Amino acid sequence: MAIKYITKKGSKYWPSKAMKEIAYVNNPKIYKEADKNPIKFWAKIAKEGLDWEEPWTTTYEEKLPYFKWFKGGKLNFSYNCIDRHLFKNANKPALIFVPEPTNEKPTILTYKELHEKVCKFSNVLTKYKIKKGDVVSIYLPLIPEALVAMLACTRIGAIHSVVFSAFSSDALKARIQDGKAKLLITADGYYRRGKPINLLKKAKLAAKRTTIKKIIVVPRLKKSVRGLKIRDFNKEMKTASSKFIPTTVKSEDPMFILYTSGTTGKPKGVVHDTGGYATHAYITTKWNFNLKDNDVMWCTADIGWITGHTYAFYGPLLNGSTTLIYEGSPDFPKPDRWWKIIEKHNVTAFYTAPTAIRMFMKFPEKYIKKYKMPSLKILGSVGEPIDKDAWNWYFKKIGHSRCPIIDTWWQTETGGTIVNVLPGIGPFVPTLAGKSFPGIKHIIVDEKGKEKKKNQLGFIVQKSPFAPGLLHGVYKNHPKYLKTYWQYLTKYKKKYYDSSDGAFITKDNLIRITGRTDDVMKVAGHRLSTAELEDAISQHKLVNECAVVPIPDKLKGEVPVAFLILKHNKHPSNLEKQIKSHVDKKIGPTARPSFIYVVNQLPKTRSGKIMRRILKSLLINEEPKGLSTLLNPKSVDEIKKIIANKNHPK
Ligand code: PRX
Repeated sequence: MAIKYITKKGSKYWPSKAMKEIAYVNNPKIYKEADKNPIKFWAKIAKEGLDWEEPWTTTYEEKLPYFKWFKGGKLNFSYNCIDRHLFKNANKPALIFVPEPTNEKPTILTYKELHEKVCKFSNVLTKYKIKKGDVVSIYLPLIPEALVAMLACTRIGAIHSVVFSAFSSDALKARIQDGKAKLLITADGYYRRGKPINLLKKAKLAAKRTTIKKIIVVPRLKKSVRGLKIRDFNKEMKTASSKFIPTTVKSEDPMFILYTSGTTGKPKGVVHDTGGYATHAYITTKWNFNLKDNDVMWCTADIGWITGHTYAFYGPLLNGSTTLIYEGSPDFPKPDRWWKIIEKHNVTAFYTAPTAIRMFMKFPEKYIKKYKMPSLKILGSVGEPIDKDAWNWYFKKIGHSRCPIIDTWWQTETGGTIVNVLPGIGPFVPTLAGKSFPGIKHIIVDEKGKEKKKNQLGFIVQKSPFAPGLLHGVYKNHPKYLKTYWQYLTKYKKKYYDSSDGAFITKDNLIRITGRTDDVMKVAGHRLSTAELEDAISQHKLVNECAVVPIPDKLKGEVPVAFLILKHNKHPSNLEKQIKSHVDKKIGPTARPSFIYVVNQLPKTRSGKIMRRILKSLLINEEPKGLSTLLNPKSVDEIKKIIANKNHPK
């Protein structure tokens, strides 16, 4: 019989005795203790959990809007992920890679093998003149070489900037240009739904006319790659030395940039430091997923997103654990692929997004029925609010009513989880993300920063001292950093990090996240901005003006809907197709609008602002508010009719 890790008391689920016994933390006092002196709490974790070459002199220094953790401390991130585990665990699997084609065998990299590869690739990077502080762009699918490349950057102190492989060539180009990257690491392609996908074509197109001097290509599809600037990853690795002494960096040195969508057309480069991020990634992985010696963690996120960085790669390795990655489509060749992988590789902690769960709920029961997955101990959810139905299905069908579900709320900016229930403490309640992680404090405020009462909806903000994983700026853009995250500081002198999420706290002190309060949407767990999409669509030759609004979607959480005003009234019959492929080119297929409406006018205020709120009301059949402020109230009737005629979303 598989072990039961939860038990029901009253209407709530709590950790069972078995879970309490194995949990790193099982005493709720941890919250109070950490709260008494968060700086001391984090110092203890950083000291115990990481190897430092030089100790820090100041644990936390705050000169808002900037702050530093472990100032004066020196370390190397890749040493902490690999080298220090070699003494005891050289032959332990660090990474299990499951390729999409079923005729290809999984690859296992032990800590020793990973060490050798990372050292070799660090030498390759050095050969191409990459040094500490340089930016390296990584445009790779979820394959072992992505881990090798990222860790090699951290080994030499270079800053990696990973770009999601499903993003377009234009999106990659913009990110290369912003970071002034010197080198691009990509692959010839990857497999999706049984088909080889060409990645190099997009990479080459993007690299043209940028700062990129060389492109290193992983021959995933075994194609021979040639070109003046192009180098073959495997060939380079063959001749490289397998010794490389890690470069010591300062705790506050930047380790990576990850671009994310905000409220403007241009994505921002979120900067994460080394020591603070490492501490946060280390402890949240350890306590949330309770990784023990023979455990295997599988976080399904792609490395193009922060979840992939922190919980598919770095967190498990900082803990000397084994992480599993899978290259392909969740339902390929059949919708039981994921469950097969869990059983075959004895996955103990499984971490995915509600969108994926909702997708699996739609498949016939036969695809899940035979999988008991007895190895599973903990299930995690991330990226968007998890609704009750998805929670219950996940709990019953995947966890067989045995495993706690850890709902984790966080952001690209926070580097690691900041609100979640700890598996050894509980309770696990559908739709409630839980408590602030020990040592972190959140409150709910109104727009002026006044604290709200229990159960009152408001904006969730983080209080000083800020979590070690929190961003350290927007890459070379101080004004954007200040404006996006520190409005309470600049306007009301309050030391709050503005998350731009709405939330409330229940009487039991559990936090419910209600979603973004800005123009950012979550489409299938992917973060997109309406402004970025509007910007892209407006560049289409037939479009004069455009407005994008997200609407709720049963499967993807949210989907974008676009309203267009066309130039010269030209309306070709294939307009929708044209717009969708234009969005694919500008951003990527994840951003494709689900519905497109051609209108004559957009509802605007007298100052010319498009009233997206009104558009949204019309789409979801709500009575629109604020019509009296409109310059063109007649536009509303027109749009209402157009929506009704196309018989689109209700
Ligand atoms: O709105 C919140 C939502 O995802 C946003 C952050 O997106 P991103 O930077 O892509 O990071 C995703 C992975 C952490 C947040 O502002 N979000 C994330 N996790 C949850 C969530 N909303 C509700 N519940 C969650 N567990």
